[in-house]
Amino acid sequence: MINEKIQGAFNEQLNAELYSAYLYLSMSAYFESAGLRGFANWMRCQAQEEVVHAMKFYTFIHERGGKVNLKSIDGPPVSWDSALAAFQDAYAHEQKISELMNGLVDLALERKDHMANAFLQWFVNEQVEEEASADEIIQRIKLAGEGGGMFMLDRELATRVFIPPAQQAV
Ligand code: FEO
Repeated sequence: MINEKIQGAFNEQLNAELYSAYLYLSMSAYFESAGLRGFANWMRCQAQEEVVHAMKFYTFIHERGGKVNLKSIDGPPVSWDSALAAFQDAYAHEQKISELMNGLVDLALERKDHMANAFLQWFVNEQVEEEASADEIIQRIKLAGEGGGMFMLDRELATRVFIPPAQQAV
């Protein structure tokens, strides 16, 4: 049975992951309107990944005999000054999510909930990748400058494909 405090914190994280999906979908819409369809594709894939993250919490809470409480999702920003500004926001957001994850691990250890801790380790590793990929694109945008470089980067980001968990290698 899931500890009540952990259940509350996991429900909050479920909401934070759904907000992440909302944020990246909003960024995708912004890029779509700006004619950067590759950037829009990358963000749409990211939004889908966030839904997968949310569903991992949803499933775990149920598997541990807990109760999922869905709360309202805040509205994300709808526009940014530039592609760089959007990715800087994405990077800052992922750093915030990493902090939340560290807090959840601290809570799991404090409550001696090793199952919750084991579950969270997937997210701890995932956050390393999440921060690194946003930061990498920030550096690429800076290198690309205006015009041709951005066009090439947009084409590259168009190749990202969302792979549903059932098709991912274990
Ligand atoms: Fe679910 Fe991007 O962290």
